[in-house]
Amino acid sequence: MTTPHILTGPDLAQSWSLIRRRAGERISLVPTMGALHAGHLSLIDAARRHSDRVMVSIFVNPTQFNRRDDFDAYPRTVDDDIELCRNAGVDAIYLPTVEAMYPTGFATTIEPGPIAQHWEGTHRPGHFAGVATVVVKLLLACAPDVAVFGRKDLQQLAVISRTITDLNIATAIVGAPTIREADGLAMSSRNRRLSPDARSRATAIHRGLLAAVTSAARSGDVDQIERAALADIEPAADSIEYVAVIDRATFVRPTGVCAPDSCALIVAAWFDGVRLIDNMTLDGLD
Ligand code: PAJ
Repeated sequence: MTTPHILTGPDLAQSWSLIRRRAGERISLVPTMGALHAGHLSLIDAARRHSDRVMVSIFVNPTQFNRRDDFDAYPRTVDDDIELCRNAGVDAIYLPTVEAMYPTGFATTIEPGPIAQHWEGTHRPGHFAGVATVVVKLLLACAPDVAVFGRKDLQQLAVISRTITDLNIATAIVGAPTIREADGLAMSSRNRRLSPDARSRATAIHRGLLAAVTSAARSGDVDQIERAALADIEPAADSIEYVAVIDRATFVRPTGVCAPDSCALIVAAWFDGVRLIDNMTLDGLD
């Protein structure tokens, strides 16, 4: 098992990538904020299937956190992350400092369009501008042929795909399925911060998603689907930001009846001070 190259600035990432591409190798990138878990590792596996060399970026991006306390509390486990990457056969880790990403005088932000205005965009002002800007910077530094993102963050994937298309960035965006714990809780770096009580209550999210899928198979009525999910999630969560049916292409909530294969139920809820998000396509396939 070879140790991955650690690249601490954009110039180092650019030259590492350029040398590989000049040798005719295909490169993939898995962007992360670290605290790696099996969900991230599944993206690394998918990345390997698409390329000769896998890069992982680890950067807790300050500009996408709309709350300072969330940024400060975000788990940072770099040594463990490097070891996991090594065991997963990752070739290079892009591990920039905040100063390397945002040097003094940094002044440019990408403002994503309408998809970014709903749901996460409403509840986390500025979040998607931070995500879009950092992802473009990561792609320009690593210049991968392919970048892999999880459908766990479904709206993020939609915002990134739109941004990359609009800016003519020559990287193919690949979406990968959500990896869950045995009891259905979607894996997340934030799960480490759940108290035992909150951890057990949080399993209601997955039950709510499954109830929504069952309801969608019966009638497709949007109000009924949301009510079915809320019956599980509302009693378990401390508070709910949204439980909503959305069209997967636009993130707009359909009125009346929805088509299960093109719609998803999306959830954001709080458990003991930890904000969790999850989603499922209403045909239950993803
Ligand atoms: P992070 O939360 O570390 O997630 C990195 C990638 O892992 C994202 O594409 C996310 O969707 C995916 N992921 C997280 N949990 C997953 C799970 N249970 N199953 C499958 N994939 C999962 O998302 C970010 O970081 C940042 O916003 C980033 C894109 C890196 C920009 O800073």
